[in-house]
Amino acid sequence: MSLARRQDRVTPSLAAAALACVAPADAYELQSVLRAQGPVARDIAVLSWVMFGSAAVILVVVMALTLYAVFAPSERWRRIEGERLVFWGGAVFPVLALSGLLVYAINVGTLPRVEPALRIAVTGKQFWWEVRYPDSDPARAIVSANEIHLPVGQLVEISVRTTDVLHSFWVPNFAGKIDMIPGRVNVLRLQADKPGVYRGQCAEYCGAQHARMAFHVVAQPPAEFEAWRLRERLPAREPADPSLRLGRAAFLTAGCGACHAIRGTEARGDVGPDLTHLGGRRFLAAGTLKNDVGGLIAWIADSQGLKPGNPMPSFQQLDGETLHALALYLASLR
Ligand code: CUA
Repeated sequence: MSLARRQDRVTPSLAAAALACVAPADAYELQSVLRAQGPVARDIAVLSWVMFGSAAVILVVVMALTLYAVFAPSERWRRIEGERLVFWGGAVFPVLALSGLLVYAINVGTLPRVEPALRIAVTGKQFWWEVRYPDSDPARAIVSANEIHLPVGQLVEISVRTTDVLHSFWVPNFAGKIDMIPGRVNVLRLQADKPGVYRGQCAEYCGAQHARMAFHVVAQPPAEFEAWRLRERLPAREPADPSLRLGRAAFLTAGCGACHAIRGTEARGDVGPDLTHLGGRRFLAAGTLKNDVGGLIAWIADSQGLKPGNPMPSFQQLDGETLHALALYLASLR
C-alpha cells in the first residue's frame, strides 16, 4: 500500500484519539488582560482604564453637545457656538488632553531603570518557542521550549527574536505584546505576583499554525525555581528499564536526533525543540496537546494531522511497540 493511502487510513482515527489529549484549559489561569498579574500588567491595566474613562467622558460631552445643538432653541445654541467654541473645544482641549495622555502612556511604556533579577531569551519559530536561560558559564545555560519558568516576585527581562518570520510574544496576564522581528532583538519585562501557570500565545499571524503557537509561563516560588533550574542543567540519564532503553534506541535510530537534541546522547539536532527534559513540560507542540504518553504517541505518529504544515513529519513507519517505548522514554526525561 502506498504511503499516501496508508496516511488516509490512519490519520482520522489518530486525530480522533488525540482529541482526548488536547491541552485542557483548566491546567492554567484564565488568560485575560483583565486579570493583571504583577506591576507591569497592572500599569497597563490602569493605563487602559484611564484611556477608556477619558474617552468615555469626552464621548458623553460630545454627545450632550450634539443633542443640545439638535434640540435646544437656536438662540440659546448661538450663545455657545462660534469661534470661541472651536478654539477652546476644538483646539485647546484636545491638545491638552491628548498631550497629558501621551506623556502618561510613554511613562508607563518606559522600562524601569533597575537591573532585572533574571534574563531569558525567547526565539519565535514556525510554530514554537525556544527558551534559553543564558549564563556566563555556557555549561550552566539552559535550553528549553514552549515553557518559561520564572521566580515569583522578581523582575525578569525577556529578550525576543525570531529566526524565520514575524511573531509576537504575548502573555496577556503579565504584559503587553512585543513583536519578534527578523534581525532585531526586542526586550520586555515582567514580574509575577503569585505562583501559577499562565498561558501566552503568538499574537502576529505567522503561517498556517499561528493559532497553535502557544506557550506557558510557570511562576514558581524562588526556591522551587532554583530546584527546577538545577535539574534542567543536567544531561539526560541513561535509563536502566528495558522498555525505556528500547525507546532510547528507537529515538537514536529513527532519525529524531537530526532535528532534536537530548543532552547526554548523541542526538544534537537544533532544528526542533531540545528534548533533554521534555517529560517535565506540561504541554506538547506549543500548547497543542497534554504532555503524557498518549499525547506523545499521537504527536509522533500524526504530527501532520494534528498541526498540518509544522516542520515535523508524522512517523507512521514505527510499529506500535516501538512507538509506545519511544513515548515512554520521552515522558521519562524529566
Ligand atoms: Cu508565530 Cu503567529
